[in-house]
Amino acid sequence: MQFVSAKGAHLPALGLGTWSLSGRACYESVRAALDIGYRHIDTAELYGNEAEIGAAVRDSRVPRGEVFVTTKVPMGELRAPQVRRNVEQSLKRLATDYVDLLLIHWPSRSEPLAETLGAFAEAKAKGQTRFIGVSNFTVALLHEAIAKHGADIVCNQVEYHPYLSQRPVLAALAQYELVLTAYSPLARGRVVADRDLARIGKAYGKTPSQVALRWLLDQPNVAAVPKSASRIHLAADFAIFDFTLSAADRAIIDAKRGATRLVDPAGWAPDWDPA
Ligand SMILES: NC(=O)c1ccc[n+]([C@@H]2O[C@H](COP(=O)([O-])OP(=O)(O)OC[C@H]3O[C@@H](n4cnc5c(N)ncnc54)[C@H](OP(=O)(O)O)[C@@H]3O)[C@@H](O)[C@H]2O)c1
Repeated sequence: MQFVSAKGAHLPALGLGTWSLSGRACYESVRAALDIGYRHIDTAELYGNEAEIGAAVRDSRVPRGEVFVTTKVPMGELRAPQVRRNVEQSLKRLATDYVDLLLIHWPSRSEPLAETLGAFAEAKAKGQTRFIGVSNFTVALLHEAIAKHGADIVCNQVEYHPYLSQRPVLAALAQYELVLTAYSPLARGRVVADRDLARIGKAYGKTPSQVALRWLLDQPNVAAVPKSASRIHLAADFAIFDFTLSAADRAIIDAKRGATRLVDPAGWAPDWDPA
């Protein structure tokens, strides 16, 4: 396993995304992932699957200290009392005393960022989370959180795959030496049919998905959390630690980077940075 680090946090660079996994299917995916070797699970209060993830981690018998668990507090729950209640409920559902990383799921226009960050710092001080971070933050929001409010965050989880450049966010995170965790790293399955990625993969005996994940993880301080409900896909997504892409192949993928954003909820998303 490869790791990315920021401010004393060491995140396994490849994690399991769990959005849209629920009930037994979620439990089975997490068990299969831990069995294969995944040690990083990404969930959120909004996904409604924390209880299944808690049960799967417990039943796997992988020591809790070896699994990096991330959860997120939703927009609308970001005032301090709600954050406190939310964190307690997430920990109860996950059947754990702490999570490794607690994220603001989406930035809010109505809930003051300073108050949310204060409540997150409190959760960290209480040992309810080892580290704190943000998700779906633009460059301006990152500067506001860090430069204005002194937030001690370790990462920004954003959509990132070969069709969305994220260059401004990557540059800001590099400036602060923080991690970018790529969500929807397979562009929600679209990379599977990508002919350029298939052609590149052929030379390494790898699939387009594996090439896309390798391209992400070959970048400094980038982690990725692909989701799969299939044991075969989980194993394939994990089989990316035995090759690296040549500079020429990386350049071909870099040239594809555009502005295709797949997760853009109307009335909810911030004013994104230009791609
Ligand atoms: N912070 C946020 O606001 C936010 C937003 C979106 C997502 N996320 C996180 O990021 C995670 C991943 O993103 P995502 O679920 O949107 O999309 P994704 O991981 O880019 O793609 C998932 C899709 O790819 C397929 N897939 C996975 N491995 C494959 C393989 N080896 N071959 C072929 N198909 C494969 C999956 O199908 P199968 O299940 O059939 O394998 C599924 O349809 C989420 O689950 C969630 O944890 C966070």
